[in-house]
Amino acid sequence: MQRISLTESNLSLSRLIYGVWRLSDDPDSSIKQVRAKIDAALAEGITTFDHADIYGNYDCEQLFGQALALDSGLRAKMELISKCDICLNTDKFPDRRVKYYDTSAAYINASVELSLQKLHTDYLDCLLIHRPDPLMNAAETGAALDALIDSGKIRSAGVSNFHAPEWRLLQSHMRHRLVVNQVEMSVLCQDAFLNGDLSNIQTDGLVPLAWSPLAGGRLFGTEAAAQRVRPLLAKLAAEQNTRVDLVAFAWLLKHPAHILPVVGTNQVTRIQGLAEALAIEIDRETWFEIWIAASGNELP
Ligand SMILES: NC(=O)c1ccc[n+]([C@@H]2O[C@H](COP(=O)([O-])OP(=O)(O)OC[C@H]3O[C@@H](n4cnc5c(N)ncnc54)[C@H](OP(=O)(O)O)[C@@H]3O)[C@@H](O)[C@H]2O)c1
Repeated sequence: MQRISLTESNLSLSRLIYGVWRLSDDPDSSIKQVRAKIDAALAEGITTFDHADIYGNYDCEQLFGQALALDSGLRAKMELISKCDICLNTDKFPDRRVKYYDTSAAYINASVELSLQKLHTDYLDCLLIHRPDPLMNAAETGAALDALIDSGKIRSAGVSNFHAPEWRLLQSHMRHRLVVNQVEMSVLCQDAFLNGDLSNIQTDGLVPLAWSPLAGGRLFGTEAAAQRVRPLLAKLAAEQNTRVDLVAFAWLLKHPAHILPVVGTNQVTRIQGLAEALAIEIDRETWFEIWIAASGNELP
């Protein structure tokens, strides 16, 4: 499995990342099943796992952490990303009236402590600010992230769903470099390719992570764009004796920005074989053929 180095640190991430947002949706959310998914990912060379404090209504980190607690050697074999700043209005927080964002130092520090506890670890490899907070005090947030890196509780910091003005403001208040931006990208979600996000990510030396690289499964559903592009993906998959999901990942991997897809399947059999995506050939014209089929429009 290819690895991608993060700026200004000794850290690297696996080119494919396993995202655990849906971990607690699995009807079998036993520790044994969680461990089977971790092992299947590691066997593919996928060593980076993407969490957020809120996943599974605040339960996924704990679920994953139980597997880590049972095997003291496991943590060292992986990189853990987590995120914070979204405050869900759920049964876990009956006093909250609405969902809101919090990038205050106190909130970030408390959230990291909880993530570390739940994951049974003493450091995160990367902490992301999950969504841009319109009330962010960049000096306070930046100082909090710097201090967490200095303390060793997080090894690096990044952002998610940020546009350039937002991350540049935060970066301008930090000593350490922001290392990643995680945004939605897939054959069905092409915005970042044209709205400047992917260009600015490259200009600023961030590593782009693609969430919902199969459009959260909608690629296999009934919406028109999915129905237009799927036969083409299926034809390419048949030609290269591979799977449709892997062709969709290969389409992202082809981009010169070195996109890291964050894969979200709950099925061990779909985790198995994921590394094959890196070997799939997609030439320039085919890349655009997929783009055009998905968007439904010829290029201008
Ligand atoms: N930063 C953010 O704001 C943000 C937002 C959303 C997600 N994320 C991250 O991105 C990760 C991935 O997101 P995602 O789960 O939406 O990714 P995804 O890989 O686009 O979608 C996964 C979904 O697709 C289904 N699927 C996969 N292969 C399939 C196939 N061959 N046929 C039919 N269905 C198929 C899966 O079902 P099965 O489980 O049955 O395979 C699962 O429900 C998350 O875990 C999280 O870490 C981040």
